[in-house]
Amino acid sequence: MKKVTMDFPDMQDYRMVEGLNQLKTNLAFCGKDIKVITMTSSVPNEGKSSVSFSLSRALAEHGRKILLVDADLRKSVMAAKYHITGIDKGLSHYLTGQAEKEEVIYETEAEGLHLAVAGPLSPDPTSLLDSELFQEFIRSVREEYDYIIIDAPPLGLVIDAVIIGKYTDGAVIVIEQGVIKRKIVQDVIKKLKRGEIRILGAVLNKVDDRIGAYGDYGHKYGYSYYGEQDAESKK
Ligand SMILES: Nc1ncnc2c1ncn2[C@@H]1O[C@H](COP(=O)(O)OP(=O)(O)OP(=O)(O)O)[C@@H](O)[C@H]1O
Ligand SMILES: [Mg+2]
Repeated sequence: MKKVTMDFPDMQDYRMVEGLNQLKTNLAFCGKDIKVITMTSSVPNEGKSSVSFSLSRALAEHGRKILLVDADLRKSVMAAKYHITGIDKGLSHYLTGQAEKEEVIYETEAEGLHLAVAGPLSPDPTSLLDSELFQEFIRSVREEYDYIIIDAPPLGLVIDAVIIGKYTDGAVIVIEQGVIKRKIVQDVIKKLKRGEIRILGAVLNKVDDRIGAYGDYGHKYGYSYYGEQDAESKK
């Protein structure tokens, strides 16, 4: 397996570490059969990729095998953003029959964390994801990894995250604090529920400590949890 080099997002801050630990614990309590997780949000830029990376890396500790999949086939920015070098082929190559699964999964410098990036933009991402090949990909990696974290596009714009979600065990919604209105999050919850996708939780991201209980400043990870019943009652 080929190896990539990259810059990982910084997650040394104690609030981020704390938030990620809570998220990890909640995922563990979702049960053993919850291992393929779709990360989505309402609108772009809420922090899906940052949270997906940090979560994958945190999960890869303690000898576990984790695969992070960049499934935003419309906007393949992950490679550039994290200065990932050494990638020839991405998920879109696999989904169009131009590469085998093994050719699109790379080792990273983080022990236990493997990565598949989106690859070049394809004309019809929704049909590529709603395919036997994508199902086969998920079926196969499910056998090999302890967790598969799928970084999906925001649901306010395109339906891809519901398509992806159908083949996974549930979704986590990343919400940028103070920016996203309740109604917009409720719409995302409705779309996921209509697609019969289990909502595993929500990450409240870019929490501004000035309005929190802590004395220091700046944007940090926060975490809050919606159970399925909470989501129902908020409809
Ligand atoms: N907790 C955080 N604290 C501070 N900045 C953050 C945090 N999370 C994300 N960011 C910043 O917000 C921006 C958007 O983050 P990211 O790319 O992870 O979002 P995204 O939801 O994946 O966006 P897109 O929808 O475009 O894929 C980046 O500049 C990132 O560095
Ligand atoms: Mg992203």
